Amino acid sequence: MYQLFSEEGSAQAVIDRLDGCQDPRFHHVISRAIHHLHNFVKEVEPTMEEWAQAIEFLTATGQMCDDKRQEWILASDVLGVSMLVETINNRSTKGQTEATVLGPFHVAGAELLENGSNISKEEDGALCFVEGHVKDTDGNPIAGAVLDIWQTNAHGFYDVQQPDQQPEMNMRGKFKTDEKGYYAFHTVKPVSYPIPTDGPVGKLLNLMGRHAFRPAHIHYIIQAHGFDPITTHIFLKGDPYLDSDAVFGVKDSLVVDFSKGDNGIWHARFDIVLARPD
Ligand code: BEZ
Ligand code: FE
Repeated sequence: MYQLFSEEGSAQAVIDRLDGCQDPRFHHVISRAIHHLHNFVKEVEPTMEEWAQAIEFLTATGQMCDDKRQEWILASDVLGVSMLVETINNRSTKGQTEATVLGPFHVAGAELLENGSNISKEEDGALCFVEGHVKDTDGNPIAGAVLDIWQTNAHGFYDVQQPDQQPEMNMRGKFKTDEKGYYAFHTVKPVSYPIPTDGPVGKLLNLMGRHAFRPAHIHYIIQAHGFDPITTHIFLKGDPYLDSDAVFGVKDSLVVDFSKGDNGIWHARFDIVLARPD
């Protein structure tokens, strides 16, 4: 016999119906979700109109998603949930490079390029040279580590946002470290850019009175045999959005000095530390 529904016992009435649930982890997760959701509704006491608006937001967010656009990831990002999940899953303090959000614009299958190659297939933008070493937690070089790099163009758009204007796979490339653990690539100096605001998440940011900008950055995924992979970015020191990133991705250790050389080329150095799995 289940108890009938009441305001007071609402969460328990739903949780009691889980006695046929076979998966203990799922049982735990869904019970806690029901518990917190009911507490939230009891605290906020939404009107029927407000609840209908919430359903409309959830519906529009789902309807905006396809194989090129992931509005749910964006919602999770601007609410700080992506960074929270990332932080919980990367608590280890073995000295490895800090991780940050993947974001929705990674594309698998970037070409493996020679060290030093330029990932920009366009003319515009300030030329920039990025280099560094990949090491283990004892400071030994890691040869053969693969760095998957991606970035917006000089106007703040990813190739997948402008399929008719940018060459395919523009601003993307993979690089392999040499025997000294060294990697290098040319690119354009990164610029700050707004995350997409033409969907429900844009409206949400607006309602919250927040801007949509991310500070200038370059994305990295670094993988090497026998080491935990790391998904991270480097951020450009001095960017005005470093302390108000729309998706909360900035960490001090990832902020890098970009300086302009006498030859007019910008330069940044970023060393990466990978740790072995436990
Ligand atoms: C990005 O940096 O590509 C990104 C991250 C989160 C949301 C939108 C864009
Ligand atoms: Fe980005």
